[in-house]
Amino acid sequence: MRPLAGERKTVRHRPWPAETVLDKPKYELDDAQLFAQSVVSPLRYPGAKRQLFHALRTIINTNVPPPRLLVEPFCGGATSALRLAGTGVVDHIILADADPLVAAFWYVAAFDTTWLINSMKEEEVTLKRWDWWRMANPASRRERALKCLFLNRTTFSGILHGKAGPIGGRAQTSAYKIDCRYGVEGLERRIRAVGDLANSGRLVDVWHCDWRTSLARAARFGGLTPNEIVAYLDPPYVEKAPELYEWSFESNEHEALAEALTAMDGFRWLLSYDDSPVIRSLYSGQPGYALRTVDYRYTAAGSATRQSKTELLVTNYPDVPHQLEAPLTPSRQRKRTDKESGR
Ligand SMILES: C[S@@+](CC[C@H](N)C(=O)[O-])C[C@H]1O[C@@H](n2cnc3c(N)ncnc32)[C@H](O)[C@@H]1O
Repeated sequence: MRPLAGERKTVRHRPWPAETVLDKPKYELDDAQLFAQSVVSPLRYPGAKRQLFHALRTIINTNVPPPRLLVEPFCGGATSALRLAGTGVVDHIILADADPLVAAFWYVAAFDTTWLINSMKEEEVTLKRWDWWRMANPASRRERALKCLFLNRTTFSGILHGKAGPIGGRAQTSAYKIDCRYGVEGLERRIRAVGDLANSGRLVDVWHCDWRTSLARAARFGGLTPNEIVAYLDPPYVEKAPELYEWSFESNEHEALAEALTAMDGFRWLLSYDDSPVIRSLYSGQPGYALRTVDYRYTAAGSATRQSKTELLVTNYPDVPHQLEAPLTPSRQRKRTDKESGR
């Protein structure tokens, strides 16, 4: 980490006081290039919305004032918040999740970084160890963090839920074995970058709580005015969520969230969802809301082919451009043109 003029580099072992959000971040990041890439999170996450980064950045940059703080109450793999902070779109972020393993992971990655990296390197990535972690009921935050990282990197599709099996199956006969996603060099780089976000005051805190508590805490954080705070919410899917996350949503939770957002006067929020009639009926036609769709491509677990999906983005930001997708790179543009012309 390179200190800015007049700043001394320190390693931060606990969350920052709330008033930190009134200051600029303390240092330049050591590994700023990492955040220009799409894979920045040490966690693989079902439903990770990597391609939404461009849309979120466009909306935030189009509106004034720029937010001082972004809170992500369903953070999961936290890709969007990490990239928005790492590229300077927002100065400060807070991550939160109801899953105790996920929340512990982000806290320890942020404020106990060296311990997590060393412990990750010491783990033997074997079926025996996978069975052990699956049964473990860790009492300490450090152990919960390590359990989250280990199971996320060695379980089919990164799913932490009890039913998913180890990558490569019990027989380990596939070309992809249990350790194929446990590359310690890449993980160390990404965990270090999370620690760097925390040391520099960009990642201010990590909360283990339900979304209601996150929104209530965020709304009065650091003495900010409501329009200096934005929440980015990426709730569990309407379908399939119970198979993917320990903490999923009953249908009345989707309604409760819609009601809570309507009641948050002046507070800005961005919400991404799988495009479903249930969600459209909750948010369409509300005064002051903008709905946009963002198409993105992904590779489903267990499939070799790329598929495309439409994500719904809803926000109460006043200025929302119609075109939100990232511009195609020249090589992606060429591939698309070739495909469309049958070449
Ligand atoms: C769709 S995932 C988020 C994915 C994330 N945006 C990413 O890119 O990786 C939903 C997350 O919400 C969390 N969650 C589920 N119910 C919750 C609740 N009531 N309050 C807070 N978090 C919850 C789950 O543990 C899961 O991590």
